[in-house]
Amino acid sequence: MSRSTNASTTTRQTVHATINGEATELEVEPWRSLLDALRVEGGLTGTKKGCDVGDCGACTVILDGRPVNACLVLAVEVEGCRIETIEGLQPGPDQVHPLQEQFMCCGAAQCGFCTPGVLMMAKSLLDQTPRPSEAEIRFALAGNICRCTGYTKIVEAVERAAEDLQAAQPGRQGARA
Ligand code: FES
Ligand code: FES
Repeated sequence: MSRSTNASTTTRQTVHATINGEATELEVEPWRSLLDALRVEGGLTGTKKGCDVGDCGACTVILDGRPVNACLVLAVEVEGCRIETIEGLQPGPDQVHPLQEQFMCCGAAQCGFCTPGVLMMAKSLLDQTPRPSEAEIRFALAGNICRCTGYTKIVEAVERAAEDLQAAQPGRQGARA
């Protein structure tokens, strides 16, 4: 007797989530990672697949306000959740986020493969801690591996973006006095 494990025989599930502010439905197999669901079913290929096992941070997205490795989350787990990906970071078609601006100015992206994950992790940090210390930035980005930059320019870019955001929104309160 043969037992089929073909994906085509598996029941797909419909997952409803708000992705970058838009109500979205994804049809996914129960074992599908959020990373693959975003890239394949959602067409959002800005989120990168590096290791696929939680080691590199390239797949970082923000899930209900918290950064996660999308390769370690099942797509079916995000029912009803709010997801932010790199495609939603830009405030508008002709604008870039201060983090993107400073990554360009500081030369904090070289090959760029790690950059979407680093930017989303940095955004999450600045959302929670508008005035992070260098140590806090390095700690927050410890799980995001970059093989090109040596991290110094990334840290500088995040520091400058924090200053820009603070200047643009003086009411933002830093975690530190
Ligand atoms: S692809 Fe998810 S942590 Fe590397
Ligand atoms: S810029 Fe190449 S891995 Fe970070």
